[in-house]
Amino acid sequence: MASKGGKTVWFCSSCGNESPKWMGRCPACGEWNTMVEAPAAPKASSSKGGKSAGNSNVPVRLSQIDNSAETRLSLGNPEVDRILGGGIVPGSLVLIGGEPGIGKSTLSLQLPLGCPSLKTLYVSGEESVKQVKMRANRLGGDASGCYIYSETLIENVVEHARELTPDLVIVDSVQTMYTETAESSPGSVSQIKEVAGILLRFAKESGIPVILIGHITKDGYIAGPKILEHIVDVVLQFEGENRGSYRILRSIKNRFGSTSELAVFEMTGTGLRAVANPSELLVPLHEGGLSGTAVCAMLDGTRPFLFEVQALVSTAAYGTAQRSATGFDVRRLNMLLAVLERRAGFHLNAKDVFLNMAGGLRVSDPACDLAVVCAVLSSNFDFAIPMDVCFAGEVGLSGEIRPVGQTDRRISEAVRLGFKKIFVSSFSSLDMQHKDIAVVKVAEIPALVKALFK
Ligand code: TYD
Ligand code: MG
Repeated sequence: MASKGGKTVWFCSSCGNESPKWMGRCPACGEWNTMVEAPAAPKASSSKGGKSAGNSNVPVRLSQIDNSAETRLSLGNPEVDRILGGGIVPGSLVLIGGEPGIGKSTLSLQLPLGCPSLKTLYVSGEESVKQVKMRANRLGGDASGCYIYSETLIENVVEHARELTPDLVIVDSVQTMYTETAESSPGSVSQIKEVAGILLRFAKESGIPVILIGHITKDGYIAGPKILEHIVDVVLQFEGENRGSYRILRSIKNRFGSTSELAVFEMTGTGLRAVANPSELLVPLHEGGLSGTAVCAMLDGTRPFLFEVQALVSTAAYGTAQRSATGFDVRRLNMLLAVLERRAGFHLNAKDVFLNMAGGLRVSDPACDLAVVCAVLSSNFDFAIPMDVCFAGEVGLSGEIRPVGQTDRRISEAVRLGFKKIFVSSFSSLDMQHKDIAVVKVAEIPALVKALFK
């Protein structure tokens, strides 16, 4: 590529690693065939934002900095405020990432509509002003503090934001914005980096917080949010099955708060509705007496919640048994089935096993192992686990039940939801006395089966 300056560099479109020459495999993330050529960023506008922040910037003694807590701006949405760590910090750049269609634009437009006291500038690079208006009508709320601007040239956006001096700027999305200083097309690695750099400098200099929306594909492959993670202050990620109506907003990086926060939303006909108490929604909807279900006391970040694991075990219709899992790692399922086979003598190798996490959740907490094992056994023996029993434990390769983090908090949540019995590992150390619930400690699968199914 012959650019004006002549100098080009290669970027990995997966992780953003920069290299002076082409390589078949990115040395940083190990992906093959991801290097793309792009003109080198002009030096003057590369992200060395500190310089122009004023000459008054000199080293200060740590002890002389006053320790009043930084002021935070409430966005009027308690769940979003909570994941940000108690509101948005002035001058911060927040990235909201997620797959297309998951609800990023909906949430980012709901914020200004739900908080008319804030003067917000909503920049849409994807939709016309009319289209945004239609969406706003559908969402309802008070639009009196919200300015809409349909533009894709980032310099114009910054200029208008400076003139308008809003309390908050929302840019939807980073992939549609472009800057004149980089030559490649919008959405390319160098454009995305430059656009984010410009917005970061704008936020730091003006003290106006900026929310940036970024599309990301399932594996984070398309040039975008993965590259931006180093640049921005906060990364919030939207997750959830597109078919299901639940969406999880998770904080995966936060310079001003904890990263173990999460909020659950439900997509309704009039936008996203915060689900203040996720457990109550995800816990069984049936009368009880059904085999193949087990309730897991999961911890997502710092937030415990209970949800139902469903399994169906049936005789394989064809020669090889099928294993399928929705919301759970199928390799982990295979491992658990192998443990049941080898360590506890259950013959499941000629059975089809289907596993589903209720509510379209995707779980990775190892504490779900125990509920998965129990749901599978329950379906296999057609024995219903009582409705007031739940589980929290990891299953090891030798069939041992291993303790999981923060067992006390899981138990407290189970008590709150009216569960009467919880199975945990014998090796769990509990710091609290739990009344109102029987805590059953089990060390390995055979002991669990004995305690549960006898
Ligand atoms: P959107 O916010 O446009 O997704 P993103 O910006 O992340 O690509 O959300 C798109 C989906 O949400 C779309 O399939 C329609 C649905 N939706 C509702 O169900 N209810 C609503 O009130 C709105 C605005 C959207
Ligand atoms: Mg959108």
